[in-house]
Amino acid sequence: DKGGYKHFMAKEIAEQPGVIGSALDHYLSDAGIEMPGLDFAVCDRLVMVACGTASYACMVAKYWFEQLAGLPVEVDIASEFRYREPPLSPASWSVFVSQSGETADTLAALRYTKEKVAKVVSVVNVSTSSIARESDVALPILAGVEVSVASTKGFTCQLTVLALMALKAAVDRGRMDADQLAAHLAHLRNLPGLMNHALLLGNDVARIAADLAEAQDILFLGRGPMYPLALEGALKLKEISYIHAEGYASGELKHGPIALIDQHVPVVVLAPRDALYEKTVSNMQEVMARHGKVLLISDAEGVHEAGAGVWRSLTLPRIEPWLAPVLYALPAQMLAYHTAIAKGTDVDQPRNLAKSVTVE
Ligand code: F6R
Repeated sequence: DKGGYKHFMAKEIAEQPGVIGSALDHYLSDAGIEMPGLDFAVCDRLVMVACGTASYACMVAKYWFEQLAGLPVEVDIASEFRYREPPLSPASWSVFVSQSGETADTLAALRYTKEKVAKVVSVVNVSTSSIARESDVALPILAGVEVSVASTKGFTCQLTVLALMALKAAVDRGRMDADQLAAHLAHLRNLPGLMNHALLLGNDVARIAADLAEAQDILFLGRGPMYPLALEGALKLKEISYIHAEGYASGELKHGPIALIDQHVPVVVLAPRDALYEKTVSNMQEVMARHGKVLLISDAEGVHEAGAGVWRSLTLPRIEPWLAPVLYALPAQMLAYHTAIAKGTDVDQPRNLAKSVTVE
C-alpha cells in the first residue's frame, strides 16, 4: 500500500522522521542507550562490512566511531572482504549492516569472521533474516518494510542506530561524560523535526531535477562524513534515473575528476557548516571557475556566505555537524526521486536491480 503516494520511494522518504523517532525510542531509556551485549570497552577495533548503500552507512559511521569514541574502524565492501580473507584481531568485533539481512556477500563475510573475532554484530532491518540469526548481537533498525529497490529510510535508520552505537562506544570507553552524552542525544532527538523541514523542499527539488534530467554526468562532492553521502547521492541517482553520477571526496577533485568539469556538468556540493566547510567551498569555487553548474546544499548561513554565483541552492535547517549526513540524505534521495520522475523511469523497480541480492 503506497498510502496515497505515487511511489513506494516517495512514501518511504516521507516516513523517515517517524521511523527514526521510533528507533530512538526503542534504544533510549532514562538509563541511557540500551544495547545489551555490547560493551565497547573490551573491543579494540571494528571491522564493518556491507554492500552498496549499507556500505556508505558504514563509511559515515567510521568517522563517528573514530571521532566520538576513539575506536579504530575498518570498512570494506563484502564482495572484496570475503575473498581477500583479511587477518583479524581476536579482540576486534565485526559489524555487518544490511537492510534485507540476506545479501549473499555480506552473509559470507559474516561467516568468515565468525571464529576469528570476539563478537559478531549486525545492524539489520529484517530481524528474522539469516544475517540477524547468525550474529551474536543483532540490532534492528526498525525502519518497517522497505519496498522500493532504492534504499531510503533503511539508510537513515542504519545511520541512526550506528550513531547510537558510536555514542555508546564513547561512553563505554570513557570518552564521554553524562552531560556530553545528554547533549548528543538531544541532537539526535532533533533529527525528526529537522527532517520534516527538509521534506518541505520537495517542490524546489522537483524544479532543479527538471534541469538535472538533461545532464549526461553529475558529480557529488563532500568532505568528512559528507564524503560517503556524496557516494550515496550518486548511487541513488544512477540507480533510478540512469544518469551517470559519481561521488568524490572534495579534496580529490584536483587529482583527476576536475578534468570532467565544463558548463554541462552539474556538481552537487554537500556543504553543511562544519569544520571543513571553508575547504569544501574552496573546492566548489574551483568547479565554478571551470563553469561547472553548482548545486550548493547547505544551511541558510552557508548558502548566504558562499552562494554567490552558484547555479542553484537548497537550504536546510542548521544541524550539529556530526549528524549532517543523516539530514542531508533527504535532499539527495529527493533529487534522485524527482530526476527519475522527470525522466519517466520506473522509480520503485529500476531496470536490472533486485531488492535483495541473494546471489553473488
Ligand atoms: C541502493 C541499494 C543497494 C543495497 C545493497 C545492500 O539503494 O538499495 O545498494 O543497499 O544491495 O543491500 P542490503 O542492505 O539488503 O544488504
